[in-house]
Amino acid sequence: MQTKNPKKKVSVKDNAAKPRRAGTQTIQKTIPGGASARDDKPRRSSTQPASKPGKAPVKAIAAKPRRIGTKLSRLLELNVVAVKTPARTAKPRSDGTASLTHWLLYCRPGFEKDCAQEAVGQARRQQPVLAEQPDVIPDSGYALVAINEQTLDYRELIFARQLIRLHHTIDTLPERDRLTPILLAIAALPGNFGALWLEVPDTNDGKTLSAFTRRFQPLLETALRERGRMVDDIKLPRLHIFFPDKSSALTGTSDPYNSSSSIMGIARQSMPAEAPSRSTLKLAEAIDVFLDKSEQTRLLRSGMTAVDLGAAPGGWTWQMVRRGIRVTAVDNGDMKGTMDKNPLVEHLRQDGFKYAPRKAVDWLICDMVEKPAKVAELIGNWFASGWCRHAIFNLKLPMKQRVAALDAALGGIRSRLEMEGFSYKMTAKQLYHDREEITVFLTRTKH
Ligand SMILES: C[S@@+](CC[C@H](N)C(=O)[O-])C[C@H]1O[C@@H](n2cnc3c(N)ncnc32)[C@H](O)[C@@H]1O
Repeated sequence: MQTKNPKKKVSVKDNAAKPRRAGTQTIQKTIPGGASARDDKPRRSSTQPASKPGKAPVKAIAAKPRRIGTKLSRLLELNVVAVKTPARTAKPRSDGTASLTHWLLYCRPGFEKDCAQEAVGQARRQQPVLAEQPDVIPDSGYALVAINEQTLDYRELIFARQLIRLHHTIDTLPERDRLTPILLAIAALPGNFGALWLEVPDTNDGKTLSAFTRRFQPLLETALRERGRMVDDIKLPRLHIFFPDKSSALTGTSDPYNSSSSIMGIARQSMPAEAPSRSTLKLAEAIDVFLDKSEQTRLLRSGMTAVDLGAAPGGWTWQMVRRGIRVTAVDNGDMKGTMDKNPLVEHLRQDGFKYAPRKAVDWLICDMVEKPAKVAELIGNWFASGWCRHAIFNLKLPMKQRVAALDAALGGIRSRLEMEGFSYKMTAKQLYHDREEITVFLTRTKH
């Protein structure tokens, strides 16, 4: 299923990559599960048997049992492949090579390459990434990356919906007994877990597995509770079992302080009947994702003021108005439904790029379809002019070089605010309700 177009796999390249040995971008074709560090001897990849796309090269990895404990050797017999390297700490090994960790990231289908590129880029800014990268599977809804001693910061990743430290891949789950190999893989993990999340890719194929995960969840959870591995403590790591298809599973853990708190990384919203457009869900999700409960109460209060650029037909305006916030809605298009002639809404048919408020407002919200650089410049001007204190805005993505375009747009805002001497907090995410776009929250903070 994740191999919709199995031949069309793409290798992740990082623009800032240091020159690599020729051919090191060519990776085993067999993720989930197969990956090697560049510092490992080439034997790993060169001994890979040709295997089906999407299937782990069990033999190749099992060929080195001495590096894996007895428990894991048993797992390998069941096609459970540990992707954990022996060194758990981030120290270079005595032979000068680096330890290797694998990460599983969920993303919007179609953005796997951007997701992997961004994560590897974040790691590379800390220190060189020596690991070869697993292939990207287009439209799969997830990406795998291999890094060394670096850490990944979920909040700083735009395309990742979820960040999971990958521990095992199970490449052939027997249909009659999925429980045994999964329990064996879990048995090899240290510590206990605060939650168990069974997840599937956010694709049409993935959705067909949801009925299975719903049935399987209580079985696995009961087994883990009986073994004392699951306890009710939200501070403990969450255990994720991800099913890319019905015959394989990836097991991993997420840190509750460095990941999304929503299953599958999706903060679902229900469509309010009175809102005039589905776009309202984007702003509802942005408020949920970017602001914690106390910030929502503090920063979105009745009596505050907002400007909505590109407001028609009024879905974003509706989110503000329902919180008692007075909105100036700027758009040549019509405001519709409850947002047309609402006492809290002043509709101005003007160009959002030329509009200047008579008085500073608390919020700027902006959903105009324009080049990211142009919107970024506008946002920088609003903050530099002191016209607003907080903003939520969309940046529409170009077809190509998305990571570079976003770096430039967000970098432009940062430089402008830093030049003005402002303290600020800026967070950007491709939300579940975002399509070819991302959403950004920007707020001025006290020194
Ligand atoms: C995606 S829609 C906005 C939907 C809106 N956020 C909602 O929730 O209903 C984009 C809007 O931006 C407006 N727009 C595009 N360029 C604009 C400009 N230069 N000035 C004002 N509005 C603009 C369009 O007229 C369109 O209504």
